[in-house]
Amino acid sequence: MRFPPGFRFGMATSAYQIEGAWDAGGKGPSIWDTFTARPGTVRHGEDAKVAIDHYHRYAEDVTHIAESGVRDYRFSISWPRALAGLGFYDRLVDELLAAGVRPVPTLYHWDLPQELEDRGGWLNRDTAHRLADYAGAVALRLGDRVRDWITMNEMNVHTLYGYALADHAPARGLGLAALPAAHHQLLAHGLAVQVLRTHGAAAVGIANQHFPVHPASDDPADAVAAEMFRALTNWTFSDPILLGDYPDETIRAGVGTPDAQLDRDLALIGAPLDFYGVNFYEPTAIEAPRAGKDYSGILEVDIPDGMPFSPVLVKSDERTDFGWAIVPEALTEILVALKDRYPSLPPIIVTENGASFHDAPPGPDGRVRDPRRISYLDGHLRAVAAAIEAGVRVEGYYVWSAFDNFEWAAGYDERFGLVHVDRETLARTRKDSWYWYRDLIAAQR
Ligand code: NOJ
Repeated sequence: MRFPPGFRFGMATSAYQIEGAWDAGGKGPSIWDTFTARPGTVRHGEDAKVAIDHYHRYAEDVTHIAESGVRDYRFSISWPRALAGLGFYDRLVDELLAAGVRPVPTLYHWDLPQELEDRGGWLNRDTAHRLADYAGAVALRLGDRVRDWITMNEMNVHTLYGYALADHAPARGLGLAALPAAHHQLLAHGLAVQVLRTHGAAAVGIANQHFPVHPASDDPADAVAAEMFRALTNWTFSDPILLGDYPDETIRAGVGTPDAQLDRDLALIGAPLDFYGVNFYEPTAIEAPRAGKDYSGILEVDIPDGMPFSPVLVKSDERTDFGWAIVPEALTEILVALKDRYPSLPPIIVTENGASFHDAPPGPDGRVRDPRRISYLDGHLRAVAAAIEAGVRVEGYYVWSAFDNFEWAAGYDERFGLVHVDRETLARTRKDSWYWYRDLIAAQR
């Protein structure tokens, strides 16, 4: 498998999922601290007060990242931690640079300060302006060393699971009335791009989750349902950035911003980016709901009755231990679809891709054998190579994740890491996949 010279191999994490130290140094709670404290929200009632204690173990963690040979590390800055001071990120960035790794921070990976949630969260337009203020403070402190920035992470998943449904923080369960939360996150992105550029950022991008949406059958009703689901979950979050408008009139009206203001917002949101981050895991299959059919338990979350689309199980011979379909060609497909849809698409970085397997702990020989993760990553890297072959400009690929970590409402069962983390001792052990990735990167030189 060959990639173009300079191809950016990396690893990714996010603050809430690894840091722990949830109240260190006067840090206030995020919506995830609040959510996980509520009984019944996380699979086994776990929280991330300690997570994998990266806050205290970052120096060791940087060695696991750097010694693999990756040259990019995508992490996120915890907004509530930043409000209490940026010392931790200062140290992390210095540690990364000293190890020869390029820091690629994400400003917002779902951990909204609770105090902003109390004022309406992403349903309040003002939250976008608060994010811009926070972006300015971070850029001022780190901008002399950080050159590459990601504004927002997976606004679609945050909106769907946190605002439309109630499976993630802040658990609003609003259905289609969640659309204003999408618009305000997009606005936050636009404002943050402006602020980061003012502070001399060299490269600014975003990390959006994308996936092909296939109709479950040839029935034209399924095609209509799939098209609607695709627009709501994919294009609503990328068209404003890359085409300057929402995919259709209903969605445009649904975001709840008066027209004249909306046009000004869209001009800001559509400002050019230096790279476009794509997070990819699996494709989705959609049908028009059949009367009397039970659709529960197909996604990790259930789409409520009354919606004009229902997800059905994607046909696939192989699944991860999280139950996700393994379909590497779908990554090539979505990358090509993005190129075809967006003439102004900047170079892509696959900002997340990976798989959860419930790996056995290290054996007496110290090894963690995870052949299925290796095969998942191998297949998806080949899918990226195929997209490049097909003319898509893809300049990098980051594995989700560097470490086993807190997988949101699924807790700690779901292990995505290249490095195994023992839940009792928090000891780190490099998995076979870590060594495989190291060797693949080395072979490119
Ligand atoms: C997307 C999210 O950005 C990340 O936080 C999550 O852990 C992975 N996907 C896996 O679900």
